[in-house]
Order: sequence, then structure tokens, then C-alpha cells
Amino acid sequence: MKLNTPTFLRPLVGALALAGCAFAHAGEVEVLHYWTSGGEAKAAAALKATLQAKGHTWKDFAVAGGGGDSAMTVLKSRVVSGNAPAAAQIKGPSIQEWGKEGVLADLDDVAKANSWDTLLPKVVSDVMKVKGHYAAVPVNVHRVNWLWANPEALKKANAKLPTNWDEFFVTAEALKKAGITPVAHGGQNWQDFTTFESVALGVGGADFYKKALVQLDAASLKSATMEKVLTTFKRIKGYTDKNAPGRDWNLATAMVIRGEAGMQLMGDWAKGEFIAAGKKPGVDFLCAAAPGTANAFTFNVDSFAMFKIKNEANQKAQKDLAAAIMAPEFQEVFNLNKGSIPVRLNMDMGKFDDCAKLSSKDFVATAQGGGLVPSIAHGMAVPSAAEGAIKDAVSNFWNSDKMTAAEAMDKLVAAARTK
Ligand code: BGC
Repeated sequence: MKLNTPTFLRPLVGALALAGCAFAHAGEVEVLHYWTSGGEAKAAAALKATLQAKGHTWKDFAVAGGGGDSAMTVLKSRVVSGNAPAAAQIKGPSIQEWGKEGVLADLDDVAKANSWDTLLPKVVSDVMKVKGHYAAVPVNVHRVNWLWANPEALKKANAKLPTNWDEFFVTAEALKKAGITPVAHGGQNWQDFTTFESVALGVGGADFYKKALVQLDAASLKSATMEKVLTTFKRIKGYTDKNAPGRDWNLATAMVIRGEAGMQLMGDWAKGEFIAAGKKPGVDFLCAAAPGTANAFTFNVDSFAMFKIKNEANQKAQKDLAAAIMAPEFQEVFNLNKGSIPVRLNMDMGKFDDCAKLSSKDFVATAQGGGLVPSIAHGMAVPSAAEGAIKDAVSNFWNSDKMTAAEAMDKLVAAARTK
């Protein structure tokens, strides 16, 4: 992917350059990421521009593939062969897993100089630290439990934006009758899993979600509530189109943008696609909490872990990047394009749209009310081995015509034991 500084980022570059950056020890940072869709690429360009404004060189290491599974496979082979990139988009418990391998750099000096402990919610800073030391820097907070809809499509179907799962199926049925694909879905395991976690949250509530999908409690993974979650989840499949298998998430979003599909269950990186296509929230597209989840928030914090590297100039560049990521200018421009909200506390949300403002309000409210939960589908809740196994079990159930909910629950319980 080629990342030039686009017009919308030039003021940012100018501001950062004027901030008096000394270019004496220019270094290079190789950055592994998987931001290759329209909105994601714009956000990645903001990151590149930020680094370049500090006088350093950006070496792009983009590995396409939503959710980052392919990127993580490539990262493993690079690190194993002793050739780690300087920065990699790693998040959640995986930061700890990499930290235990002894391959991550210590960012405590940057964190201290820039007061990260006071600028970040504790639920986030804890995840960025390995044995109490910062090893990663967060860029944003994505909310996963969103429903996106095309208002024109809803109008044609004489249907309303659903707030619970019963309403969801009424709307889906109406869209189907109007000849519109009710649900835009990409049948890839991480997308199935993304839908599944929103259903689990909406049907079971935040406490059930925590027990089943964070604590991996066997009695919750095999329960009447989980059975209801699984049957609701599977029912959605009947409202997707036959070309869903294998489709990328952003192509599913494009179906909603064009009005070919009515709704999509997806995290707010989808908003980045609507925005990149010039669409206006509340006018050309609608955002709402996924059915039944208005009082809850599945968080997904993108972050960059920094790897130990030898070259001194490159180390300096790596730390400059870490510092710049937490600066308000970057947090604003990046998140305006990415669809997420700033992770840095007390940011001015003036330039953000109503979806982002709702996300920001709900993030704070759910943190206080107990509805703030880590996204299992996006690597925030459980160790990666268990996550992968549960993800496979969920997709097997979605794809099978024969598997019963009872069988799926046994698979979930077994998968949760994966170490
Ligand atoms: C990441 C987002 C990304 C999305 C689709 C999520 O896991 O957190 O940054 O846009 O996957 O690739």
C-alpha cells in the first residue's frame, strides 16, 4: 500500500513540524498493521504523517485481512526469525503474551514524560503494561456492539431501526419482502464471531457476557441463555445473502452504503468506510447500539506494541512515534478517520459526529454502570489460543446445517479450555 500525505493531513504535518521537532537523529520505523480498507488506510496515513513530521521514515508493513489474523501469522514468523518490526498492531492479552517472550521494548520513559498514567483510563493502561511496564501505546477505542443501517432501505421496507432482537427480525423480514438483503455479512470466522458477541451481549446481558466470554465459565457456556444466544445468532444467517461466505467486511459495509443491504452488525471501523465514501451519519447512514445492548459497550482498543530493536536512531524514532500517538492532534485526526473515539481522556469531541459522541458517552457511562466489557472477537478478552478455538467453534456452528445448539455448546466448553 502506498501512503502519501493526503490533503486532509497536511495541517497536522505542519502543526507537528512547527512544534519544534529536531530532525537530528532521523530514524526509521517499520510498522506492521492491517489497515488497508478505505477508512483504515486514511487513518494509517495519519499515523505515517505523524511519524514523518518528526523527521523519521515510515516503512510500511501492511498485511491485508480484517481482524488481523493474517497479520499476526506474519508477525510470528518475522519475530521467530529474529527480524521483528519496530512497531506492530497488537492488542489485549496478546501484548502480555509477546511481553513474556522478552521481545518488547520498555516505553516507561516516554509514558512518564507524557503522563500516560493520568491520560488513559486504567482499564486501558493496565493492558498496555507487561509486569507494570509500558510495552505498547493505544491509539483509540473502538466499540464493537454497533448496528449500521441504510435509512432509505428502511424507508422502502417501511421498517424501523431495531432496538432489541425481536424488532431486529421484524425489520429483517420487512427488508427481505422489499427485495433488499436484510443483513450485510462477510462469512469469515472473525466476522461471524463479531456478530456472535453482539448477540451474546444483547440476549444475555453484560453479566452473562462477562461470565461466558471473559471468564470462560463452563456453566455459562453451556446454559439455557447460551442456547438462546446460539439460536438467535443462527437465525440471522437466514437474512444474509448467498454470496456472504468469504466476503471482506468493508465490502459488506459497501452493500449498506449502496442500499443493497439494510443493516450490518460491525464495530465502528465500519463508520470509517461510510465517512471515506462521503456519507453523513444520521442522513445517509444510521448508527445504533446492537439490539439489546444500549447499556453495554464491547471495547476494542487498537494499540502498537514496540519491539526491541538495536539501532539507536531507530529506537529514538520508535519512541517519538509512541509519544506522538498519544498527542491530542493525532488522537483527533486519526479517530475522525478510523471511526473510533480517542483513547486519551478529556479530549475535545467538538469535531466528532453523533455516533462518536454516543460512543464516548456510553464508554464513560458503562464504565461506571458495569456494562463495559472487552471484545472477545477482537482480541481483548481472553488468551489468543482460547479465542481462536472459540472463534472456530462459533463459525462451525454458523456454517453447519446439522450442528445443534447443544452440540455447539459442548464445543464452546472444550474450546474454552485451549491453552
Ligand atoms: C481492529 C480494527 C480494524 C478491524 C477490521 C479490528 O480488530 O481493531 O482496527 O479496523 O479489525 O480490520
